[in-house]
Amino acid sequence: MASNTAQATQQPARHFNLVRCVTTCLLGLIVLVGLAVLIIWLVIRPQKLVYTLVNGSIQDFNLTNNHLNATLDFVLMAYNPNSKVSVYYDYIRSSVTYGDQTLAFNTIDPFFQPHRNTSRVESKLVALDLALSPSAFKQLRVEKSSGEIEVDVHFKSKIRFKVGIWKSNHRTLRIVCSSVTLHFSWYKHFEVIPCEEEL
Ligand SMILES: *[C@@H]1O[C@H](CO)[C@@H](O)[C@H](O)[C@H]1NC(C)=O
Ligand SMILES: *[C@@H]1O[C@H](CO)[C@@H](O)[C@H](O)[C@H]1NC(C)=O
Ligand SMILES: *[C@@H]1O[C@H](CO)[C@@H](O)[C@H](O)[C@H]1NC(C)=O
Ligand SMILES: *[C@@H]1O[C@H](CO)[C@@H](O)[C@H](O)[C@H]1NC(C)=O
Repeated sequence: MASNTAQATQQPARHFNLVRCVTTCLLGLIVLVGLAVLIIWLVIRPQKLVYTLVNGSIQDFNLTNNHLNATLDFVLMAYNPNSKVSVYYDYIRSSVTYGDQTLAFNTIDPFFQPHRNTSRVESKLVALDLALSPSAFKQLRVEKSSGEIEVDVHFKSKIRFKVGIWKSNHRTLRIVCSSVTLHFSWYKHFEVIPCEEEL
């Protein structure tokens, strides 16, 4: 009887020890991984990429019978403020929208951006005999006669980060430059627009 009770109390105690050991080890591991992540983060200090639309123009504009011909040129400055992270832009697509109507889109050559670098991304978009919705046509005609139109410029890109020899997986980056005013008179200067990442 006596030995039976002793065994009964010993068994859970050993079991308890094992559980405690596993828990302690797991907690220790989590803390270590957390510390490693924190240290890597502190060393790399990732900073957000910065995008600014520095020029935009519209030429060869013709709006006839609900159809549009136009050539739009944009210059985006991409700034990578990171001192340890460089960026591969493996695929870039740009598009220009007027309200909810897409006027034109194109793809831009891939490029690699070193750290602490500003890259100039040029995009020429051509709308060729594009059929517009009647409301977009009317609105565009009114805006054209006022001498300027307002569009949104979008960039969608597949990017990878590079830190040392490590390269990340691809992620999709969406940037929008909203309410970009394009002037039809050549002497009016383009107003620089800060662009935002779309989530
Ligand atoms: C903006 O683009 C237009 C047309 O390409 C060009 O004439 C003009 O010089 C550019 N402006 C700047 C500040 O680069
Ligand atoms: C616009 O296009 C139409 C049809 O192609 C043409 O008849 C017209 O002359 C063009 N207008 C201008 C200003 O180029
Ligand atoms: C746009 O250009 C094409 C080819 O040059 C022409 O056939 C068409 O009529 C033009 N459309 C407009 C609206 O100007
Ligand atoms: C940024 O990198 C590109 C490509 O390597 C290079 O052509 C450009 O001159 C660099 N810009 C600056 C400001 O260093």
